[in-house]
Amino acid sequence: MKRITTTAGMRRWTDAARTSGLSVAFVPTMGYLHEGHLSLLRRARREADLVAVSIFVNPLQFGPKEDLKRYPNDLPRDTRLVRKEGCDVLFVPSPTDMYPPGYRTRVTVEGADEVLCGRFRPGHFSGVATVVLKLVNLVRPDVLLLGQKDAQQAVVIKRMLEDLNTGVKVLVCPTVREKDGLAMSSRNNYLSPDERGRAVAISQSLFLARDLARRGERRASAIRARIMKVLTEAGVIGVDYVEILDGTDLTPLLRLEGDVLIAVAARVGRTRLIDNVKLKV
Ligand code: PAJ
Repeated sequence: MKRITTTAGMRRWTDAARTSGLSVAFVPTMGYLHEGHLSLLRRARREADLVAVSIFVNPLQFGPKEDLKRYPNDLPRDTRLVRKEGCDVLFVPSPTDMYPPGYRTRVTVEGADEVLCGRFRPGHFSGVATVVLKLVNLVRPDVLLLGQKDAQQAVVIKRMLEDLNTGVKVLVCPTVREKDGLAMSSRNNYLSPDERGRAVAISQSLFLARDLARRGERRASAIRARIMKVLTEAGVIGVDYVEILDGTDLTPLLRLEGDVLIAVAARVGRTRLIDNVKLKV
């Protein structure tokens, strides 16, 4: 496996891959890898001749009061994991190489700040769209793999890549969970044992919501109320949102119909966690 730390080096690798006619699958990450990330690497392996992974904690997608400075990292461990999964290249650029002095460009997907996490993290999705487009321009993959865990991110990135005619195919892969159901996240690392105990209520509330929908409940308000009840009873009180939306375009639903996304964001202690379930009604 090759480890590349400069944008110029990445471009050289990409040019060589293109010349050799091999296809490339790409998994962008912010590191501190867990089984969720690794599931994307394994799927990537099946999708193309070459697998590229990036680790870059993108300053553009963190708000001024967010956790950029304390975001967990362990590059030696991540490097071992990526190598073990048989990846071909690990791209670890520096912030100054990605955003050199004089850098001024941002990509914005209209409306992204108006729903779900966008309302609580203004500018976040523009930061995500910008870095993903930059990475895609450097790696020029055939396939980009993303996790369903970050449902809104997947919708925004898909839209951006399609709107800007990149020709990149997007594959959204299932959320990988801990044994008790908690969605894996690098941020779970922030939780104290007590907070970890309460955090599981988020996935439990979503599984209950999915069961209710499967048993015929169609009223979004009734499902939202049941989710809130589970969260409150578990002591998860910092709920940013419980939303029921169309899974394709993220418009809010009053009644469950078609591709439905049920999404929760809640703060457990100082840690903000998100999770969702998707279902066909
Ligand atoms: P990060 O949080 O490191 O996640 C990298 C990828 O792993 C994303 O596509 C995310 O959806 C996926 N992922 C995270 N947890 C997962 C889980 N439990 N199951 C399945 N997939 C999971 O998301 C980002 O980084 C950044 O915003 C990025 C896209 C790299 C842009 O900076």
